[in-house]
Amino acid sequence: MKAAPPKAVTRELQEIRASIKAEFDSENGSHDWGHIERVLALCETIRRREGGDRRVIELAALLHDVGRLARVKQAVRLGGHARRGAVEARRVLASMRVEAGTIDAVVHCIEAHSYRHGVVPLTVEARVLFDADKLDSIGAMGVGRAFLFAGEIGAKAHNEAGVNVLETSAMGREDTAYREYMFKLRHIKDRMHTKEGRRLARARHNFMKKFFDELVLEAAGRA
Ligand SMILES: [Fe+2]
Ligand SMILES: [Fe+2]
Repeated sequence: MKAAPPKAVTRELQEIRASIKAEFDSENGSHDWGHIERVLALCETIRRREGGDRRVIELAALLHDVGRLARVKQAVRLGGHARRGAVEARRVLASMRVEAGTIDAVVHCIEAHSYRHGVVPLTVEARVLFDADKLDSIGAMGVGRAFLFAGEIGAKAHNEAGVNVLETSAMGREDTAYREYMFKLRHIKDRMHTKEGRRLARARHNFMKKFFDELVLEAAGRA
């Protein structure tokens, strides 16, 4: 059975939830509040095996994608949502009078959660968040989010037969869920940072691979 976090920590997390949940709910479905709550739960699953400071991890999980919010994009003019999110998280946590050491630890987790930004996760807390966030991109949930994202940018369900997906471009009509799988999702299991993350990623990867293998066969005309 899960041990309940201390009341003060619960209050802190509730305060953050109350301040940003509505904003996430009005964002695109592929990065909505459901993603944040799933990452929070996956963090705890991984932390129970790998260790790490639960409070730092939970604060980082709740705040890790704030850099995607329209308000934050406007206010923090830095490249990349991980960078913007780190700046906004520092502001939010300082306003809640969280101690400096915890803020620094949370900010590192957020800066290092996206591999596009090029910051390597140096702490166990950062490695836990990285793996939890990536796990939500693969498996059944990953497939669902990939199709949702393709819909959000106006892509198709699948490219026509004969299209070499590796020659298609991102963020357009041909940026399908399958393209995302070929370019990114199928490599995620090899980029995890924790043993538990790798174990969970293998299972999710196998399911996802089965799905996309089947999709390709059906698209090629198999009844
Ligand atoms: Fe992110
Ligand atoms: Fe995320």
